[in-house]
Amino acid sequence: MEYALTRAMDFTISEALTELTGFLAAFFATGAVAFRYVVLRADAAAEVDIARRAAQRAALFGFIGALVTTILYVLTLPRLAAKNHTSIAGAITGNGATLVQTLCIALAVVGLALALAHVRLGWALAAAGVVVGPLTSLFYGQWSRAVNPIHRLAGGLWIGTLFIMLVAGFTTVMNSDLPPIRRGSISANMVHRFSPLALSAFAVLGLTGVITAWTHLKRLDALWTTAYGLTLIAKLCVVLIVVGFGAWNWRRQRPLLGTESAAAVLRRSATAEVIAATIVLVITSVLVSLPSPR
Ligand code: HEM
Repeated sequence: MEYALTRAMDFTISEALTELTGFLAAFFATGAVAFRYVVLRADAAAEVDIARRAAQRAALFGFIGALVTTILYVLTLPRLAAKNHTSIAGAITGNGATLVQTLCIALAVVGLALALAHVRLGWALAAAGVVVGPLTSLFYGQWSRAVNPIHRLAGGLWIGTLFIMLVAGFTTVMNSDLPPIRRGSISANMVHRFSPLALSAFAVLGLTGVITAWTHLKRLDALWTTAYGLTLIAKLCVVLIVVGFGAWNWRRQRPLLGTESAAAVLRRSATAEVIAATIVLVITSVLVSLPSPR
């Protein structure tokens, strides 16, 4: 009995680790694309060299994310083929939505590889792959199937972009030989462009989170009477901490921006926000590995 339980836990832990790897990989790719198109936009003209180096770093993180996503996806194909009693090629082409999703995964990894090789078109291909992929079920009228991928996309647009802004944007600007006042103002501009994206993504994340929670719980008391519900409560407690850091950075730190020291302070609290969000993802990986309440 104990052996069986341990085996079950082993299985769950490996499944949760795979889920976590998939979430982080998706956040890297989504964050890189959103950073390139939203956060870096105007500085690309003003500080060409800084923008180029920041985009290059973002492309590296994004490519790693897209490559890991591709590997995880390829590993699921034999199971999908067996389930549908067909070949791997048949599993991909037999269903329109799966075919589109496969193409989007390929577009993202090829696009980010091209972006890494300084081919500008690569960014556009990657953006198409990263954004269209999670929306595919919507085009096929499968509304309920679309909720989780959109929730994941919104999470990536908020937390993924914040992460890339820290490791590619701030790091490049702060280590540059620009005068401190210019470093402060470029950092401030990046944060000002990131804020509307983060707020919109947060709204979508909350809405889709409530929808998927309700769909899985089925009844309110499942929230405190099942392992799934209790894990969701744990997740929501840490989500509150992430939101707290986000609100602090937005309302208190952002208006002070403009100098290099203010940017350094914001960088520290944004790092705390990303760390708390990573804990949310760890709990989420357990959540999605648990059976939904009956
Ligand atoms: C910082 C905020 C949040 C982040 C980063 C986040 C991230 C994620 C991710 C990556 C997934 C996996 C989606 C997938 O399988 O494709 C997920 C699932 C889920 N999220 Fe969130 N989420 C956040 C906030 C919320 C909120 C506010 C709620 C509820 C009100 C919520 C409820 C859920 C539920 C119930 C699932 C599991 C769905 C399942 O069992 O398949 N999340 N979340």
